[in-house]
Amino acid sequence: MGAVHAACMAELGHDVVGIDVDESKIENLSAGRAPFFEPGLGDLLSPDNARLRFTTDIAAAEHARVHFIAVGTPQVAGGVAADLTYVNAAVEALLPHIGPGHLVVGKSTVPVGTAARLAELVAPTGASLAWNPEFLREGFAVSDTLSPDRLVYGVDNRDDRAAEVLDEIYKRPLEAGTPRIVTDYATAELVKVSANAFLATKISFINAMAEIAEVTGADVTTLADAIGYDARIGRRFLNAGVGFGGGCLPKDIRAFQARAEELGVGHSLAFLADVDDVNLRRRQRVVDLVTENLGGDLMGKAVTVLGLAFKPESDDVRDSPALDVAQRLVDAGAIVRATDPEAIETARRIRPHLDYVESIQEAISGADAVVVVTEWHQFRELDPAEVAGWARGRVVVDGRNCLDASDWRSAGWTYAGLGRP
Ligand code: UDX
Repeated sequence: MGAVHAACMAELGHDVVGIDVDESKIENLSAGRAPFFEPGLGDLLSPDNARLRFTTDIAAAEHARVHFIAVGTPQVAGGVAADLTYVNAAVEALLPHIGPGHLVVGKSTVPVGTAARLAELVAPTGASLAWNPEFLREGFAVSDTLSPDRLVYGVDNRDDRAAEVLDEIYKRPLEAGTPRIVTDYATAELVKVSANAFLATKISFINAMAEIAEVTGADVTTLADAIGYDARIGRRFLNAGVGFGGGCLPKDIRAFQARAEELGVGHSLAFLADVDDVNLRRRQRVVDLVTENLGGDLMGKAVTVLGLAFKPESDDVRDSPALDVAQRLVDAGAIVRATDPEAIETARRIRPHLDYVESIQEAISGADAVVVVTEWHQFRELDPAEVAGWARGRVVVDGRNCLDASDWRSAGWTYAGLGRP
């Protein structure tokens, strides 16, 4: 989010310096290279762009009056709450370099109450603080930042300047008609986590329907189409499959529950534990489908895993259902070979022992079963007749319900989707 935000703010015409403690990240960004896969980001980075610099020197913040905090808030090790170490460290590091007239703008996803606490830290410098949550989706990060759905400013109600400064920064999207909501800190913080909780719930809702479909012979994809026509429900985020992952949804619903517990209203979000459970069960369901279709035992079976990233157009494997399924298959005794158009290197870093290959054909060659767990177009567009010539078996498990079942069946495959007969 930080790299994309920096590049996009320069694109909006501002003079930007991006600061990070990670030297290799800064080196790449300074050389005009995106340190991760994100469509469109590379085009915005250029060592010749005078409006966009990157450095590890926090003192460079002195050139600016507005300071965005875009560091991560991962899940704490050994717990479910959000780890605020990086947010706290970034604000502490900024303090000596800010003063009256400066605005610190939080973009990180934080537990409700964080902004009010940080505002007190910042106040003695004479600077003020706003919370401006970020709703970008990976894979669409650049366009979501340049043309967001909405802008939310959480401000101190005694501070008239903060919203004016943010309006100046976001002049272009505002002129293009982006809705803007000015509110208090707590509401702004909650907008972000409740949006992600809602999206996670929507996905787990349809995945729960998939579980019902599996015992009744119904088809969850047709069900989703049919209920999705109701404008109050909507078809988006109703794709049943192996479930949600990534650096946001899973940890955000857990941190939100942890914060609600602290606030004495844990019961209000108790349902999110079920949302999480449904989601995690779907991963095992994929493994079970492979097992059932390979005669009840995976020991020594060759299984190809198509997909490692938590979703297409990303190389992010944080809490990736795809990578988890690959590991579960290995644990069950299968000989797994995995591929992904972008995420092999990131996957290798956290699961170095898995067998990765670049070529789809090589990945599938000799396989007893093929499992699709990330719906990259490269996998959706595979020709089942051609793939039949590479594999040894004819079992395909569609963990994203993204293949045309009848095409695969006509080419002689045993097709199994999630929540589909
Ligand atoms: C999410 C939010 O969408 C974004 O607004 C927020 O700022 C960050 O978190 P992102 O993590 O990039 O964005 O991914 P998103 O597109 O929301 O997908 C999340 C996960 O849900 C993926 O693993 C995806 O495969 C899965 N998903 C999505 C489904 O399983 N079914 C769906 O119908 C939609």
